[in-house]
Amino acid sequence: LFAAPTEFLKGVVAMDGLPPGDRPEVCFAGRSNVGKSSLINALTGRKGLARASNTPGRTQEINFFTTTGGPYLVDLPGYGYANAPVAVVEKWQRLLKSYLAGRATLRRAFVLIDARHGVKAVDDEIMALLDRAAVTFQAVLTKADKVKDKDRDTVLAQVRTALAKHPAAYPELVLTSSEKGDGIETLRAIIAALD
Ligand code: GTP
Ligand code: MG
Repeated sequence: LFAAPTEFLKGVVAMDGLPPGDRPEVCFAGRSNVGKSSLINALTGRKGLARASNTPGRTQEINFFTTTGGPYLVDLPGYGYANAPVAVVEKWQRLLKSYLAGRATLRRAFVLIDARHGVKAVDDEIMALLDRAAVTFQAVLTKADKVKDKDRDTVLAQVRTALAKHPAAYPELVLTSSEKGDGIETLRAIIAALD
């Protein structure tokens, strides 16, 4: 899936711009700056494929990437906060929610959670939306390299407790570091096994 070059297909700013649902897709959702774009780069082994940056609100469109014979990888704008005017942020959020709730070919949403911070109220809201839309989602903890060993179990327990309230949550968590490569092979295998 990820061996041959993954390509950028298009950036979408409205639901009517979505590419045809001609294959399955998986998406990466999460708070601004949690590491969605970086994770796509790590999964595909292409550093500059999805634009990552330290400025929250970097990804402002729904970006589609193709894999070889596999699902679309979909990089979403972040939720929670962003350095953009309120009206603009609200437009992305509406698009994000319409996409998450209304994309028939969406096989799984990966909901990224910063491993230092655990599940926040905004994450819980997105998870509730996915429950209502019956979209299976899986939590992926990011930035594992930044968590102290002594804090890891506490965060994992918090995330497990939060997920237990959501019928659409897939129970298995993945702990990743796009920086160090932890969990990347595991996540590739999970995506490759979906269909
Ligand atoms: P938006 O598009 O703004 O919603 O952000 P995003 O979720 O796509 O985050 P992005 O991938 O742009 O990463 C945000 C910042 O976190 C960047 O400075 C990344 O270098 C950093 N980052 C991402 N993943 C990791 C990681 O695994 N470890 C560390 N240490 N930093 C990371
Ligand atoms: Mg991004």
